[in-house]
Amino acid sequence: MEVRASNTPLLQWTGDSLAFGLFEDAVELTGDLATLDENLAGSIKELIAEEEFKGKAGSTIYTRVPPGNQIRKLIVVGLGKSEDLNLDSLRRAAASIARAGKTQKCKTLAISLPIDSQELAATAQVIAEGVELALYEDTRFKSEPEEEKKTTVETVDLLGLGGQEAAIARAKQICSGVILARELVAAPANEVTPITMAQTAQALAQDYGLQVEVLDKEECEKLGMGAFLGVAKASDLPPKFIHLTYKPQGTPKRKLAIIGKGLTFDSGGLNIKGAGSGIETMKIDMGGSAATFGAAKAIGQIKPDVEVHFISAVTENMISGHAMHPGDILKASNGKTIEVNNTDAEGRLTLADALVFTDKLGVDAIVDLATLTGACVVALGNDIAGMFTNNDDLAKELEAAGEQAGEKLWRMPMEERYFEGLKSGIADMKNTGPRPGGSITAALFLKQFVKDTAAWAHLDIAGPVWADKDNGVNNTGATGFAVRTLVEWVTG
Ligand code: BES
Ligand code: MN
Ligand code: ZN
Repeated sequence: MEVRASNTPLLQWTGDSLAFGLFEDAVELTGDLATLDENLAGSIKELIAEEEFKGKAGSTIYTRVPPGNQIRKLIVVGLGKSEDLNLDSLRRAAASIARAGKTQKCKTLAISLPIDSQELAATAQVIAEGVELALYEDTRFKSEPEEEKKTTVETVDLLGLGGQEAAIARAKQICSGVILARELVAAPANEVTPITMAQTAQALAQDYGLQVEVLDKEECEKLGMGAFLGVAKASDLPPKFIHLTYKPQGTPKRKLAIIGKGLTFDSGGLNIKGAGSGIETMKIDMGGSAATFGAAKAIGQIKPDVEVHFISAVTENMISGHAMHPGDILKASNGKTIEVNNTDAEGRLTLADALVFTDKLGVDAIVDLATLTGACVVALGNDIAGMFTNNDDLAKELEAAGEQAGEKLWRMPMEERYFEGLKSGIADMKNTGPRPGGSITAALFLKQFVKDTAAWAHLDIAGPVWADKDNGVNNTGATGFAVRTLVEWVTG
C-alpha cells in the first residue's frame, strides 16, 4: 500500500473510491462536492438522506455510484463539530475512511479532507498515519489469511496535499515503529522471549546504525542487579538487559533515555494470577519495551540531533523450584533492599535496576514506560496512560507530545505520604502497597531508584497497550501505544 501526495482536483480524480468529510453542523454539499453530486445524478444527497447521516465524528457511510462515472464508489466520513476539528480528528477520520475502503474492497482510494493551509505538512502526516495504522493487519499466525480480512487497498491519494512527500515519508517512518511495537506485543510468549527481544535489538542496531549492548545474567550479577535477577530466577530462559543507543552525527542538542518494562510473560510468580485475572493476556507485559524498540526504529530513520538511550531489562515472571518466595529480600543495584511481599509486583523490581543503570548515563531526562498496574486501568480506562513525574517541565513536554501524537496522558499525583504503604519492618521497603492508590505506590517505589536531581517521568500504559475493539487508528489488539508520543517528544 502506498500513500501519495496529490494535486489532482477532486472532480478529475479517477479510481475506485473517493472519500471526503462533512461536519456535524454543516451536512451540506458545496463547491466541488455539489458539482460531483450533480455529475453523479444526486447519489451523494440520496446516500446522506437514506442513511440519516449527521456528520458525527467517526461515523462513515458509503455506496456504489452509477456505472460509467469517474469513480466507482463513495465514502463519506463524519468530522464532528467544525470548531472541534484538530489534527487528531483528521487522523481518526482518515482511519475510518481507510477501514471503509477496505470493506469496499477498493484498490485505489482518494481522500479529500479539510486542509489548514498553515499546517499542510502536519495534515499530510496525520492523514497518512491514520491510513497506515488502520490498514495494518497482523496475519503472521494464520496459516491461510482470512478472505474478508485481506487488505486490498493499493494506493491512497491525499488530494490537495501535493508536495507533502516528506511529511508522508515521516508518517511512514513513525508507523513502521508503531507496527514493530504492535507485532512484538501481539506475538505470544512462546514467540517473543528475552532471547528474541535481544535479537530484535541487535537487528535494529544493524538496520538503523544504532549501538547495542546486551548484558547477560553474569554481567547483571556483577552490576548487583538483585531486583531484576530475583524476578528472572524461575524462568528457564536467560534474562537479557538490553541497551540500544542512537547517536546523531554532530554534538547532540540533548541526551535522553527511554526505559521499557520487558516482561515477555507475567504469570504472577508464586503469587500466581488466578482464573479470571487475565493471565492469558500477559504476553502484553513487554509493551513498554516494545514501545522503546518502536521508537528506536523510527528515530533511527528520522535521525534527530538528539542522543537517545533505549533500555529494557527483559525476562519472564514464572514459577519453578528456583522461584523467589513471597517474603524474599532482594538487593537492587543502588544497594537498597526490598521485601517482596507480592511476586506479582515484578515490573517495578525489573525497572528498579534499569532506572539505577540509566541514572548513571548522565542524560537530561528519563522516561519509563510500563504495563505496571491494573489500578491504573481502573483509574483511567483503556484509552489513557497515567503519567507520574517529579518535573513540571518534563510533564509539559510529554503532554504536548502526546497531544500532537493523538495519545492521551493524564498526570497523576505522586503523593509522598502514600510511601507509608511501602514501609517494611525488615527491609528498606516492600514492593507492594495496599490496593487503594496502587498505581501511585508503584510510582513511588520506582522513585526510590532515581536520583532526586534527574528529570524523570513514569508512564503506566497497562490500559492503552491493547484495544478490545477497533478505535481510531487502533485495530483490535496491540496498539503500539506511546511510540508516536516518544518520537514526537524526541524529535519535536
Ligand atoms: N503486569 C501487571 C499489570 C497489568 C495488569 C498489566 C493488567 C496489564 C493489564 C503487573 O505486573 C501486576 O501484576 N500488577 C499487580 C500489582 C499488584 C500485585 C500490586 C496488579 O496490578 O494487580
Ligand atoms: Mn505482575
Ligand atoms: Zn507485570
